[in-house]
Amino acid sequence: MKLIVCENYAEMSRRAADIISAQLVLKPNSVLGLATGSTPEGLYRELISDYKKGIISFEEAKSVNLDEYFGLSPDHPQSYAFFMRAHLFDHVDIKPENTFIPDGTNVDRDGETSRYDTLIEKLGGVDLQLLGIGVDGHIGFNEPSDSISLGTSCVALDESTIKANSRFFASEDEVPKYAYSMGCGTILSAGRILLLASGKNKAEILEKTFYGEVTPRVPASLLRLVPEKVTVICDRDAASKILELHG
Ligand code: F6R
Repeated sequence: MKLIVCENYAEMSRRAADIISAQLVLKPNSVLGLATGSTPEGLYRELISDYKKGIISFEEAKSVNLDEYFGLSPDHPQSYAFFMRAHLFDHVDIKPENTFIPDGTNVDRDGETSRYDTLIEKLGGVDLQLLGIGVDGHIGFNEPSDSISLGTSCVALDESTIKANSRFFASEDEVPKYAYSMGCGTILSAGRILLLASGKNKAEILEKTFYGEVTPRVPASLLRLVPEKVTVICDRDAASKILELHG
């Protein structure tokens, strides 16, 4: 896996935008796998800026998001559908009908997970998958587990994830306990994978991802099964444990 250590969050965001913009220039009808959370916000600002400068267009692109909270409608301010509109889709020329995200309001869990897998298959898979990383090593919402979930599933969120994400909600009690998440198999099948990590709280898990055991107990470590596809871009804080232990 290629590791790019940047001075700070701004540089990480710009380097990541360069990769996604290049993807869109080279293949305008790319299927982009997108992530939410704090980490990609700067990247999305950079992509909006590239779009406004006329460097890139999303007109032919399609997007599939990694995950959505179970029980939240697309209009809920903390839903990932809302996040994507606010941070990217409303500011670029992507067609709303070409943006896909699991339907958090669908209570038929088997129906929703197979609908999402079929949809991704029909799109021909993901060309470039963007990922953040949870403090517990989750990618998408694939939480540490004894087995690998290949396709989309409805997952119970870990305590640490609920705690980490409570910063977006009025209280911890309001954080949904389940989410639909694209599976690790789909993520690993993407043509290219770009993982971003920022901040000291990601230092330990990033070191485990690169140097620990490859195990579904650390879902991000599974990326080492397809090392040639993966680029990790992080800031100095997130790389601090790797730099301290491995130079
Ligand atoms: C979000 C997602 C999650 C986040 C992860 C890190 O769509 O799939 O895996 O990437 O929880 O979140 P932040 O960036 O907020 O630290």
